[in-house]
Amino acid sequence: MLAQLQDIQDQGLVALGQATDASALEQWRIEYLGAKGKLRACMAGLKDVPRDEKPAVGKRLNELKTALEAAFEEKQSSAGGAAKPAGPMLDLTEPGIHPGIGRRHVITRVREELCEVFARMGFEVATGPELEDDEHNFSKLNIPADHPAREPIDNFYVEEPNHGAAPRMLRSQTSTVQIRVMETREPPVKIVSPGRVYRPDTVDATHCFMFHQIEGLYVDRNVTMADLKTTLFQFARAYFGTDAEIRLVPSYFPFTEPSAEFYMKIRLRPDQPARWIELGGCGMVDPAVLEGVGWDPEEWTGFAFGFGIERIAMGKYSIPDIRMLFENDVRFLQQL
Ligand code: DAH
Repeated sequence: MLAQLQDIQDQGLVALGQATDASALEQWRIEYLGAKGKLRACMAGLKDVPRDEKPAVGKRLNELKTALEAAFEEKQSSAGGAAKPAGPMLDLTEPGIHPGIGRRHVITRVREELCEVFARMGFEVATGPELEDDEHNFSKLNIPADHPAREPIDNFYVEEPNHGAAPRMLRSQTSTVQIRVMETREPPVKIVSPGRVYRPDTVDATHCFMFHQIEGLYVDRNVTMADLKTTLFQFARAYFGTDAEIRLVPSYFPFTEPSAEFYMKIRLRPDQPARWIELGGCGMVDPAVLEGVGWDPEEWTGFAFGFGIERIAMGKYSIPDIRMLFENDVRFLQQL
């Protein structure tokens, strides 16, 4: 019996040494320490051992039990430690996830850069509401009641619950802010006003139903057309570089007299030569507009301008299609 117990111990420890994974370990436990395992079988056999041998065999059985259990526990804790790590698996050699760095949208950046260029020339930033009334979008800008620019087909009018009130609309131009500033301040004023404007245009490479303008207004004593052209030329050189070319082409706007369209020679496609592109309108503030806000046109004169920010951004970065600015494809935005 004693020799048999020694065999079980020797074989058991060898077999335990060969158990390499959790299931082999469990197999071993069942075989040696389980309810129907070898150790229990030996213990059951103790009753058949002759009485005088019992103390020695019993002692040996206890030693065997202790040896097998201790060996099993040690093996389990070393193997189990690897199989069941305390925390999450962390492979420090993995390259890791590179966090993408965000950036402001190109229109936001161009808007801020434009304000900064004009701030250097003494213009403050003013803002006005996007939901406007027709007085500020049209009447006070000297746009008569029957003017085609007021057509519902060319504007986003808003249905008012209180019928009879002045019609409201999403502003179609930032010139509204000229009026809002002149109504609330005294001359001289020198402001720029960037913001969104809305027109029900069919979307194509150069049109969208929402876009951005930057409006300028300078009213003081003795402001002339030469100041306007100098300001625009300085702006063009500051923003597009010292070789920037500008051109003023006679035009008509109800709120300026004389009026002009502002052109710059810019490149909309990297693979094409620069072309003359219209960026917006400008002119000397019409005396009727000054009178409308109670400013004496004999004492005060001024110039105004309104440019499309998308056009400027497209010229600056050679973007061929306005829709690229609104699709927000990250592969496009990351290039700017
Ligand atoms: N508001 C005009 C437009 O959206 C642009 C414009 C022209 C603004 C002449 C001005 C200006 O301030 O003087 O087409």
